[in-house]
Amino acid sequence: MKAKISKAVFPVAGMGSRFLPATKASPKEMMPIVDKPLIQYAVEEAVAAGITDLIFITGRNKRAIEDHFDKAYEVEAELSARGKHELLAAVQDIVPKTVNCIYIRQAEPLGLGHAVLCAQPVVNDEAFAVILADDLIDSEQPVVGQMTSVFEEQRCSVLGVEEVPREQTQQYGIVSSESLTRGVGRISAIVEKPSPESAPSNLAVVGRYVLTPRIFHHLQRVSAGAGGEIQLTDAIAALLAEEPVLAYRFRGTRYDCGSKLGYLQATIAFGRRHTEIGAAFEDYLKRLYS
Ligand code: G1P
Repeated sequence: MKAKISKAVFPVAGMGSRFLPATKASPKEMMPIVDKPLIQYAVEEAVAAGITDLIFITGRNKRAIEDHFDKAYEVEAELSARGKHELLAAVQDIVPKTVNCIYIRQAEPLGLGHAVLCAQPVVNDEAFAVILADDLIDSEQPVVGQMTSVFEEQRCSVLGVEEVPREQTQQYGIVSSESLTRGVGRISAIVEKPSPESAPSNLAVVGRYVLTPRIFHHLQRVSAGAGGEIQLTDAIAALLAEEPVLAYRFRGTRYDCGSKLGYLQATIAFGRRHTEIGAAFEDYLKRLYS
């Protein structure tokens, strides 16, 4: 197993039913926070952590994601002709030229675990990151970078976690772990979407994982779990019976952009400090609430 993480998997085949009708014909991952789609924030986080191979697990109606990370001849020619150099750079520099974008189609929506398993032929026997673009994390040091550092020290799987209100345990994978020292603790159990009464804690896994390749062995074997889907959480539960798996309390603020409320909160946070409109937006908010 290589010491450095160079591959990240982005499961982007999900339907986005919580944002219908906005997501009827376009991917939820392309919804913008101010002027950048969610998937671009996720990709920038990976690239900032030194990841060079981006593996997107896509599905029907997701072509816009491939187009977004590809060259756009017409748009570029038009911006160049009009002398709009800043915008041209924004369109051209979405990912550095040294980064590879790899697309794998998940033909059926069989769950997050199945989506991750689809990446096996590309990931092979390396440890890798999984990033869920729905969870937008605002932080000084990108969270995936924080987690790959933990991996490089400990050489085992690492899950990004945070405390959530008890009544929300049903929305997350929930872990029980030894107490976290400097944000890190070994996980003793993990369960997908438990009720508040049966949840082992209120420590939730958010959409950031660093996994050893042994996870594929378990993903091939788990049967459908919560919601009738192949769950990544169930494979992790099997993994932690044979390898240490760490919970990592990341430094940063997470916005659940898979929910309307989280999406609006992210829009406000990122809007307020946007280079172009931040000051005017802040001013507007002040007037609105004075
Ligand atoms: C998925 C995982 C869950 C995790 C969550 C984080 O659930 O199955 O374990 O806590 O992402 O966002 P989903 O939000 O896809 O239902």
